[in-house]
Amino acid sequence: MRTGVITGLGSALPEQVLTNKDLELSANTNDEWIVDRTGIRERRIGGMTSTLSVEAGRKALDQSGIDPAEIDLLVLATTTPDQMVPATASVVQHQLGLNCGAFDVNAACSGFTYGLVAAQGMVTIGVNNILVIGCDSLSRITDYTERNTAILFADGAGAAVLQVQEADTPAMLGWDLGSDGAAAGILYAEIGGKLVMEGREVFRRAVRVMVDSARKTMEMAGVTADEVALVVPHQANIRIIESAMNKLDLPMEKAALNLARVGNTSSASIPMALDEAVADGRVKPGDLVLLVGFGAGMTWASAMLRWDGA
Ligand code: ACO
Repeated sequence: MRTGVITGLGSALPEQVLTNKDLELSANTNDEWIVDRTGIRERRIGGMTSTLSVEAGRKALDQSGIDPAEIDLLVLATTTPDQMVPATASVVQHQLGLNCGAFDVNAACSGFTYGLVAAQGMVTIGVNNILVIGCDSLSRITDYTERNTAILFADGAGAAVLQVQEADTPAMLGWDLGSDGAAAGILYAEIGGKLVMEGREVFRRAVRVMVDSARKTMEMAGVTADEVALVVPHQANIRIIESAMNKLDLPMEKAALNLARVGNTSSASIPMALDEAVADGRVKPGDLVLLVGFGAGMTWASAMLRWDGA
């Protein structure tokens, strides 16, 4: 069968560091509370979605060793496009010198996994090589004087090259995509406005949907929790991750974590954490890797990968 294998990963962060101490100056909050209630110590801000996407995309292409002329499709997951029109994917495609189709996906923090699942489907209908990027510049829609959201949101990009292989089993063993638009009002930004969030409600639902989605994906993959080598959760809040891991009977040592340094980067969160975990040698060929996230919408998404690439 045709299956898409990740053969390269890349990440990008803007240079400006925003620490919890910095936030004490703009919002009514403090370092101790933020670390205790979220696990975040600092984050990066100041990026443009196209610029960060190009940097992460180029690194992923370099790592895979693929000739950019061989890329057949670019999928860019973002909830913060540079402009309303055109899709930022087209801008990134041009800047990377790719000659292929390109489109944006907006599923907020679930966006990268949505994009990866869609890309995997495209491989089965004949597309050979796909660049999937998750990128957000949430600093553009975050009010850093409003403590509820200021402490969480930041900028970043992560990218993966998916290359076709002929194999006996699929590289993506299971997946789950979901949405509940009835909860759209708990996390949103009007066009031209800033993020508004009911934090406690998002927290409560996030744990539930992460657990349900991960279970569905494990069931589809025919895999039990103890067989999973690495979980790459959306980096929203360490307490959400701990609670979900606990309910799934997965030890925290199996979680890829970078939120202390980068905060919540929405669509970039999962690919950046995956990139770091792979660079740190935490994933071996054949390992089962579970991606699981949730976001505004509400949306949620998970995927079980059999690691053979990168
Ligand atoms: N700094 C200091 N104190 C604070 C802060 C703050 N930033 N925020 C709240 N407090 C205080 C409150 O006033 C309250 O004080 P009180 O007990 O004296 O009344 C106390 O801390 C607890 O407040 P809660 O609102 O219950 O705080 P909670 O523990 O829920 O933490 C947080 C708030 C961090 C926002 C949490 O609810 C959360 O992480 N929610 C999920 C958010 C999330 O993941 N969003 C991303 C979704 S993904 C996407 O699509 C972008």
